[in-house]
Amino acid sequence: MKKSVLITGCSSGIGYSVAHGLQARGYRVFATARKAEDVATLQAEGLESLQLDLNDSTSISQAVEEVLTRNNGQLYALFNNGGYGLPGAVEDLSRDALRAQFETNFFSWVELTNLVLPAMRKQGYGRIIQNSSVLGFAAMPFRGAYNASKFAIEGWSDTLRLELRGSGIFVSLVEPGPISTKFRSNAMKAFEQYIDVEKSIHRERYLAILNRLNKQGPAVPFTLPPGAVLKKVIRALEAKTPQARHYVTIPTHLFGLLKRILPTSMLDDLLAKAGSDH
Ligand SMILES: NC(=O)c1ccc[n+]([C@@H]2O[C@H](COP(=O)([O-])OP(=O)(O)OC[C@H]3O[C@@H](n4cnc5c(N)ncnc54)[C@H](OP(=O)(O)O)[C@@H]3O)[C@@H](O)[C@H]2O)c1
Repeated sequence: MKKSVLITGCSSGIGYSVAHGLQARGYRVFATARKAEDVATLQAEGLESLQLDLNDSTSISQAVEEVLTRNNGQLYALFNNGGYGLPGAVEDLSRDALRAQFETNFFSWVELTNLVLPAMRKQGYGRIIQNSSVLGFAAMPFRGAYNASKFAIEGWSDTLRLELRGSGIFVSLVEPGPISTKFRSNAMKAFEQYIDVEKSIHRERYLAILNRLNKQGPAVPFTLPPGAVLKKVIRALEAKTPQARHYVTIPTHLFGLLKRILPTSMLDDLLAKAGSDH
């Protein structure tokens, strides 16, 4: 039997690339997307695709049930990927805005993972691969909601890894850094929905942020295509003992190193600068 992988957020970007890449490598890929038209497109491209909306518990449980039914109750791996970034200063984030960010980026991932773990425990092996971020361990200004959601992913994953020791199920974090996807245009939509620019003390900075989000092509140096993430996902799937963390781009390697060696005050200077030239 082919090794199977369930992936969320396959309509574009990293999920799309990883779904096609793993299918080409011989995996049975369950490529999920929240919109029916994206499911139809993925199917037309030859992928086995189902609907899964991370903001809807019923949709999550129905998708898992369907995947397990189709695959004899088994699942080799889950790639938690679907999500978005809400830019904006922390003091401008309403409780609703933060809640929405956590519903999609965190609570849904926990819910989905908890639904596949019983099958993995029963079969005695499995891989949970989390698409985190450099912003999962390095905080930058105006990314508070997204930072908090990805830090949450990291904390939860570290705990889960400890709790799954000896079960044959491995948890790996992939920490991309800048990847060219629809992430910025989707962040723009979230920003417009939740941040009131005109009322904010940060109005001027927001105009610069909007400039960055509207920019065509890579906004920052060292941006890589989604295939760079695919390579790390393959390692997390195929290494006998996968690493807990897989850095993808140069900025992730750099900030990973600096976080280990620099005092917080010096790291803050660099992160403030890196986060302010948007
Ligand atoms: N691009 C980067 O630089 C970067 C860096 C580090 C980490 N990441 C992480 O990579 C992951 C994928 O993002 P991407 O860069 O590939 O951006 P993207 O092109 O915007 O893709 C995001 C995917 O998540 C899906 N999604 C959003 N909300 C969803 C929901 N409620 N239910 C199901 N799917 C949902 C989107 O579906 P719709 O089309 O329906 O919105 C889309 O398929 C995210 O977790 C992101 O945080 C990205």
